Amino acid sequence: MYRLVGIENDFWRPILFSTQKISTFFANMVHEMIGIGIVGYGYWGPNLVRNFASSESASVIGVSDLDAAKLSTCMRRHPEISTTSDFRELLSNPRVDAIAIATPVHTHFELAQAALKAGKHVLVEKPLAQTSDQVRRLVDEADRRGLTLMVDHTFLYTPAVQKIRELMLQDQLGEVYYYDSIRSSLGLFQSDVNVIWDLAVHDLSIIQYLLDEDPIAVSATGSCHVAGSPENMAHITMFFESKCVAHVSVNWLSPIKVRQTFVGGSKKMVVYDDLEPTEKIKVYDKGITLNAQAENAHQMRIGYRAGDMWAPHISTKEALQTEVEHFVECVTTGATPVSDGLSGLRVIEVLEAASRSIAEQGKPVKLDPRRRVADRVKAIA
Ligand SMILES: NC(=O)c1ccc[n+]([C@@H]2O[C@H](COP(=O)([O-])OP(=O)(O)OC[C@H]3O[C@@H](n4cnc5c(N)ncnc54)[C@H](O)[C@@H]3O)[C@@H](O)[C@H]2O)c1
Repeated sequence: MYRLVGIENDFWRPILFSTQKISTFFANMVHEMIGIGIVGYGYWGPNLVRNFASSESASVIGVSDLDAAKLSTCMRRHPEISTTSDFRELLSNPRVDAIAIATPVHTHFELAQAALKAGKHVLVEKPLAQTSDQVRRLVDEADRRGLTLMVDHTFLYTPAVQKIRELMLQDQLGEVYYYDSIRSSLGLFQSDVNVIWDLAVHDLSIIQYLLDEDPIAVSATGSCHVAGSPENMAHITMFFESKCVAHVSVNWLSPIKVRQTFVGGSKKMVVYDDLEPTEKIKVYDKGITLNAQAENAHQMRIGYRAGDMWAPHISTKEALQTEVEHFVECVTTGATPVSDGLSGLRVIEVLEAASRSIAEQGKPVKLDPRRRVADRVKAIA
């Protein structure tokens, strides 16, 4: 019955509005639903509102934004949701169990910490905060209070990335040799973060999710073409203890939008094009074979294997719908989210190392994988 909120027909709106309001009220009274407050109704916030509003286990209680025009848009689309320019009203509302934060990155820490201190579970947009120190403080705060802290690493919840992970868990790709990704488009230029904190964060979270190991070093270069703005294009290379290497290229100054990832394995290779409407993933049974019989170094030892290509069926379910359902389930059951605070921390540590490397024209910066493995053990326990 809560799905009615998404219907756009104005004739039905008043009826749907009252149905939703009454249902939400009673459901909250008997604690059937998780009450959600959303802070930030700019570009991404409306997607959170729409997906939480269509969830059967959540009810959007209120939305906060500093911009009155954004709140008017929200009221027009969702008349049943209350709005406020002061997010503290959401914190003091006992019907709000959890807060989702979709504001600019420099505000994440302060808002998330205030929400946790008010006893609310928290979902924060990527990247979780501006520094690893801030993330550690959020993780500690959530742990101490027994609250869920999750970061919106949306791509982990896409059917495409989940399918690649499934193929890897089934060892269909073999040993992973590389992850190579291009994520470029014309904009959107951000003022408070550079392109790696905006776009590469997606790849770093995917790499962390797909690979069994953390990078041991990162090297990055970046360029800025707008005076006074942060870097708008960057190239990051991540090194691992295994043969695997990951390369991520991100650019806000590209004539076309590209979202392409190659995962090369010893058995098969995957091409993932997120802009493809249907066949987002193609699995190629291609690779090389080494000829051990070669009698001397002058003989060609490399053979090429060119087998079939197939495009596995993947669901069309919106990633954010899967994600908000996962968040609500974690809040309800106390389970650890896939993209919990510690996974957010590991991503931020790589972003910080990449930023240091950019400042030193690509000088590799070492990472300490042992510490992060310890973090992960803590997260599972
Ligand atoms: N997961 C994804 O794929 C994805 C995509 C886009 C953006 N994002 C993330 O979402 C976040 C927001 O990005 P955006 O593009 O929507 O930004 P935006 O600037 O379009 O919107 C941010 C909104 O937050 C409001 N705001 C700022 N401070 C506030 C406060 N204290 N209280 C209430 N409202 C406040 C602003 O008025 C604005 O409307 C960023 O962290 C960004 O990285 C995630």
